[in-house]
Amino acid sequence: MRKARNQAKEMSYGHIGVLDNQAIPREARSEYDLRQQVEQANHQLTLYALQLGDLAERERQKAHELSVLNDTLQTYAMELRASIEREQLKTRELENAYLDMVRRLTRASAWKDQETGSHMERLTEYSRTLALAIGLPHEAVHRIATVAPMHDVGKIGIPDHILRKQGPLSEEEWVVMKQHPVIGARLLEGSQSELLELASQVALGHHERWDGSGYPLGRRGEEIPVAARIVALADNYDALRSPRAYKPGLPHEQAYDIITNGDSRTRPEHFDPTCLNAFLHVHREFADIYARIGEPEYA
Ligand SMILES: [Fe+2]
Ligand SMILES: [Fe+2]
Repeated sequence: MRKARNQAKEMSYGHIGVLDNQAIPREARSEYDLRQQVEQANHQLTLYALQLGDLAERERQKAHELSVLNDTLQTYAMELRASIEREQLKTRELENAYLDMVRRLTRASAWKDQETGSHMERLTEYSRTLALAIGLPHEAVHRIATVAPMHDVGKIGIPDHILRKQGPLSEEEWVVMKQHPVIGARLLEGSQSELLELASQVALGHHERWDGSGYPLGRRGEEIPVAARIVALADNYDALRSPRAYKPGLPHEQAYDIITNGDSRTRPEHFDPTCLNAFLHVHREFADIYARIGEPEYA
């Protein structure tokens, strides 16, 4: 028996072909089978390990490619963001350049009209307050507040003897005076800037009235842009409050009463009902604005 086992041990596994099941004793055969199974299992495990190694390598490769792709995409995204920011900066710079030019023009017309800087400042604040009160979006509120002081820029085209006349204007003089909204709109229109386009609408529409009795075009209701309807009420309130050479400034309560109940010149129907209703709610803020950015007594 020991002899048979030794014989089997001596046999090389490479000589499977010469093995004769009949010639090998059962014990030797089972040891041989066992070894063969172990060998196959080892072989299989080696194969699995190799395949796993390949798989891991491919996964590593894939992860690397994905990371390279991700880096490339991030670079693209950063370049895109930078180029959008450059464009936005350019647009803002252009918009600021437009605004700067118009502010200078506004200052020039205010100087010519002997209007004060504080009137312009108050117009910004009243308009912001009203636009907010009627529920316009934040961006629109900001735009309206920005363009409000430009409403009278067209006065730059009105002759001094009419603009600075102390007494009432003659009929012919009124015809000329009533051209200032058209002149202002012409000065501001036709640019690429949306802000200047809005400023142009305000310049043209700030003397229009909701009931159609205004000038220069006699537009009524929603034919008048909302920004112009807001500025119209703000400008009226400020005109009532401000002292002039020919009239004293009125206290807030009186200005409030004239706007809401009317007098010989002003009617509540002149104003957009939505703006008027908002004014009823925020008129105290108007009083605060006038108190804060007040007008020096007219010398
Ligand atoms: Fe005006
Ligand atoms: Fe004004």
